[in-house]
Amino acid sequence: MTVTTNLRDDHDLILTTLTCFTTALTRARSEPAVKPQELAPFIEFFRGFADQCHHAKEELLLFPALVRAGLPAHGGPVGCMLEEHQAGRTCLATMHDAIASADDDPQGAMVTLQRQGAAYVELLRSHIAKENGVLFEMADRLLRGDDAARVLDDLRTLAADTDHAAEDQRGRRLAAQMLDRYA
Ligand SMILES: [Fe+2]
Ligand SMILES: [Fe+2]
Repeated sequence: MTVTTNLRDDHDLILTTLTCFTTALTRARSEPAVKPQELAPFIEFFRGFADQCHHAKEELLLFPALVRAGLPAHGGPVGCMLEEHQAGRTCLATMHDAIASADDDPQGAMVTLQRQGAAYVELLRSHIAKENGVLFEMADRLLRGDDAARVLDDLRTLAADTDHAAEDQRGRRLAAQMLDRYA
């Protein structure tokens, strides 16, 4: 097990859920009866599991370890990944607000969900491809011995945190439901 094994596993679940989200968006385009609120579990999953849990592991544990190992804190691959996390957050907040206003304006909410949803899927797929193919390869080369042990230890401590564990489990349940409905 390397420092990125757990993070790559998260990516697999996020990618599977992105595929289901794309299916749900396509279905909503061809079936006008689909309500914007039906897409809410996806936004909850991406905010809770992908952002709150997974991006926290990267931002609080992996990226600081890479900076300690010599990568620049600003700009460079770490800075680029942080900017993309922020862009994803903005997209999710817009979709969350659209669903919150869907009772008053269901059509407008669906237009926003379609546009922001497609952008989010593209952003996150490309982000994960860069992490899996470039940054994590770099991390596995740079972080060895004590440096790797520290990241693995920090990941175990975070996994044992009650709030983190609850959000992680909630995300996995949501993903299983979405997979069941849209795969
Ligand atoms: Fe990331
Ligand atoms: Fe990631």
